[in-house]
Amino acid sequence: MIRKRAGVLISGRGSNMRALVEAARDLQYPAQIVCVVSNKADAAGLAFAIERGIETKVVDHRAFVSREAFDAALNAYLQDQKLDLICCAGFMRIMTPVLIRPWLGRMLNIHPSLLPAYKGLHTHERALADGAKSHGCTVHFVTDELDSGQIVAQAAVSVLPGDTAGTLAARVLEQEHPLYAKALALVASGEIQMRTSS
Ligand code: GRF
Repeated sequence: MIRKRAGVLISGRGSNMRALVEAARDLQYPAQIVCVVSNKADAAGLAFAIERGIETKVVDHRAFVSREAFDAALNAYLQDQKLDLICCAGFMRIMTPVLIRPWLGRMLNIHPSLLPAYKGLHTHERALADGAKSHGCTVHFVTDELDSGQIVAQAAVSVLPGDTAGTLAARVLEQEHPLYAKALALVASGEIQMRTSS
């Protein structure tokens, strides 16, 4: 089996990236994590990647005059890595078509809600404010429209009495890690592909 070359984009803690790195330790897993890229030099996840001997790269968005210029630099690095797939994992940048288009069908994101509910930020707070009974997380293909690409996999959790945004986020995060590993495997193995509209 030829394992797909995957890169992970992070901005902070990187617990989903860790879950992907751990899953990919199994040589039967259809992807290997070849690089971890952050837009923030102080992203905690970078230390873990370095410790694991994974190539890391910081591309600081503040060094660029526009979103497009940042996206072009990031895309150039990702192209150099000869990646098959990219996983956004807590990558807190709005991406432009400059970065999205070259990777259409090959870029995934994990979002902490049951999409299409609660696109954007503060998903746990909004679910609680609505009195939602269930909540969860989604892995989807990245397309031009924020948090709207084809869904690869979802996992649900119950909202419990007394939940705060923090307790709910923690319960969702527990589901995110295995979900992302499963979703990347489905895409890397070719079992799931992004549908192209004709
Ligand atoms: C996760 O909740 C993810 O769904 C969201 O940002 C958070 C990132 O956490 N996009 P981590 O950096 O993977 O720990």
